Amino acid sequence: MRTPIIAGNWKMYKTMPEAVEACRRLEEMVEDSAAEVVVCAPFTTLSALSALGLAKVKIGAQNMYFAEEGAFTGEVSPLMLTDVGVQYVIIGHSERREIFGETDELVNKKVRAALEHELTPILCVGETLEQRKDGQTETLVDGQIRLAFSGVAPEAAPTVVVAYEPIWAIGTGETATAEQAEEVIATIRATLTQLYGAEIAEAIRIQYGGSVKPANISELMAKPNIDGALVGGASLKPEDFAAIVRY
Ligand code: 13P
Repeated sequence: MRTPIIAGNWKMYKTMPEAVEACRRLEEMVEDSAAEVVVCAPFTTLSALSALGLAKVKIGAQNMYFAEEGAFTGEVSPLMLTDVGVQYVIIGHSERREIFGETDELVNKKVRAALEHELTPILCVGETLEQRKDGQTETLVDGQIRLAFSGVAPEAAPTVVVAYEPIWAIGTGETATAEQAEEVIATIRATLTQLYGAEIAEAIRIQYGGSVKPANISELMAKPNIDGALVGGASLKPEDFAAIVRY
């Protein structure tokens, strides 16, 4: 059985005091939940959040560079993340791909670097509205998965968490229906089965992301291949995020 994983992506929101307060409140509300709970917070808050030493709420970053150190102005390395107690890192979010030009090759380097440093990568894939209308969703997502997992050993693959985030559903209030999400997520698992065999593919957790709210989480989680959610806007309010965790 795959443990459900609900992760919040705070994006570029929250100062340090706001972040600390939100994590403390969240911890109280989700303490006895069966799901794995992760908050992916801005870099500037990570050290303070992991110093809280919360038992239930785990801390993640939203990005990193793949090198351990070097002349890479403005970047943060996997070593720097583990150094402050971070355990998860979002890789290849569509905002990184679209706004900051991240390619599948770079995403692959970051996934492998995260695994080498014992960080759990939350690997994001997903199509634009245009690609969906053109009927390219499955081919595109299949390609993103194959490139992102390239060079990832079978033993390491189950550590990766995949997040299927259709770009047209992010921050738009327009959620993919549970059926649409399940359909693509099942094809992702089929790709992983081709790459690693059924046993490993069945162990890999796949989340859905895009306008997840307390009102739609149960329907999504009822689908056999959906193992969790990557939540943007609704993760900013501890009450809403806790309601999602306790779907
Ligand atoms: P929203 O939940 O705000 O649509 O954002 C989804 C997302 O991008 C999570 O990574």
